[in-house]
Amino acid sequence: MRRLLLLTLPALLSACGGDRGETARRDSRSNDEASSPGPPTITSEFWGATPDGDSVSLYTLRNASGMIVQVSDWGGIVTRVLVPDRDGNLVDVVLGHDSLAAYVAGTTYFGAIVGRYANRIAGGRFELDGTTYELATNNGENHLHGGIRGFDKVLWKTFTVQSGPIPGSPFDVPGAGRASLILSYVSEDGDQGYPGQLEAEVTVTLTNGNELKFDYEVTTDAPTVVNLTHHGYWNLGGHDSGSILDHELELRASRFTPVDAGLIPTGELRHVEGTPFDFRTPTRIGERIEADDEQLGSGGGYDHNFMLDDWTGDGALRLAARLRDPTTGLAMEVLTTEPGLQFYSGNFLDGSDVGKAGTAYGHRNGLCLETQHFPDSPNRPEFPSTVLRPGEKYESTTVYQFRTE
Ligand code: BGC
Repeated sequence: MRRLLLLTLPALLSACGGDRGETARRDSRSNDEASSPGPPTITSEFWGATPDGDSVSLYTLRNASGMIVQVSDWGGIVTRVLVPDRDGNLVDVVLGHDSLAAYVAGTTYFGAIVGRYANRIAGGRFELDGTTYELATNNGENHLHGGIRGFDKVLWKTFTVQSGPIPGSPFDVPGAGRASLILSYVSEDGDQGYPGQLEAEVTVTLTNGNELKFDYEVTTDAPTVVNLTHHGYWNLGGHDSGSILDHELELRASRFTPVDAGLIPTGELRHVEGTPFDFRTPTRIGERIEADDEQLGSGGGYDHNFMLDDWTGDGALRLAARLRDPTTGLAMEVLTTEPGLQFYSGNFLDGSDVGKAGTAYGHRNGLCLETQHFPDSPNRPEFPSTVLRPGEKYESTTVYQFRTE
């Protein structure tokens, strides 16, 4: 079947390369054209300027079933994910802002690529090969999401790709293919206190199988630590639909890493059995979020790393989570090569972040499912290692796949 399609659907490769600005052009495509069958497409438009005056673009990826994803070269931020619900209406399932300026000023990491190290490093400090490194601290005494100026607050170089069927994809059906935005960034030695010059590349892909895929690749010229993720805030009822507490969540995790008051793992790997952290079968998020539980108290709700049961370290993509909104019938599966997933139930949202179309995002109006290595791994030799050395390549993939049920 796949071979036949490869023969009958010759790959259309239109790689229009170039740095930001050079590829910027107005997107005049109509929605009717966008929903016609064929491989996904990618277009770009000028979005604004950084505080340094550099030109920032917004890229629009569309697929044959009408799904639309917008991504910027500023922070690799996914600003919109529009998915058809069971009635065919497009629902924007991610929180975000309308303007670039709001993202530049923001502190929520809405939709961004997070790095060099997603999540927390205790005391903003770690030791590697006998040297102690002091990192920028931006979360009390701790280092969070790469520091004061992480990968979410820099301008990435871009390259766009459109192609026919993806060899090996389970969605190898007529009209299959992909559109990708390849983002690259060089983080200099010493950036936020980290050793080594890093070369990071993140490929954001939309397929006709309604997959939104992130492929991360990083190399370094000196030993360092790396842990990248995508920090989307999901609300499958729509970004402006209020609380996520009625969403049903399934996590393929029998253990989680309990945290202290600063949300740093204590080192314990606790079984979820009999706790509000047991999402091994689909469970309404609100069902136990207010339970009298010391760990829910530390997080102000769910803000914890779950150890994924099926991870073996072999680099294979495996199911990590399923999320479903009973109102729209929209469902999302998360597959990853990573060992952990931070489930954050949007506890720190308090209505002060005014987002798209003037929506004030209140308490628990969005949730994050951040695939990653465990928090504070650089200080926890017993956790899967986040060390990257010269000559090695950090590789990680996560897929968010949408459907209606
Ligand atoms: C963390 C939260 C944090 C949020 C925004 C999440 O990944 O787990 O504790 O508040 O990001 O920074």
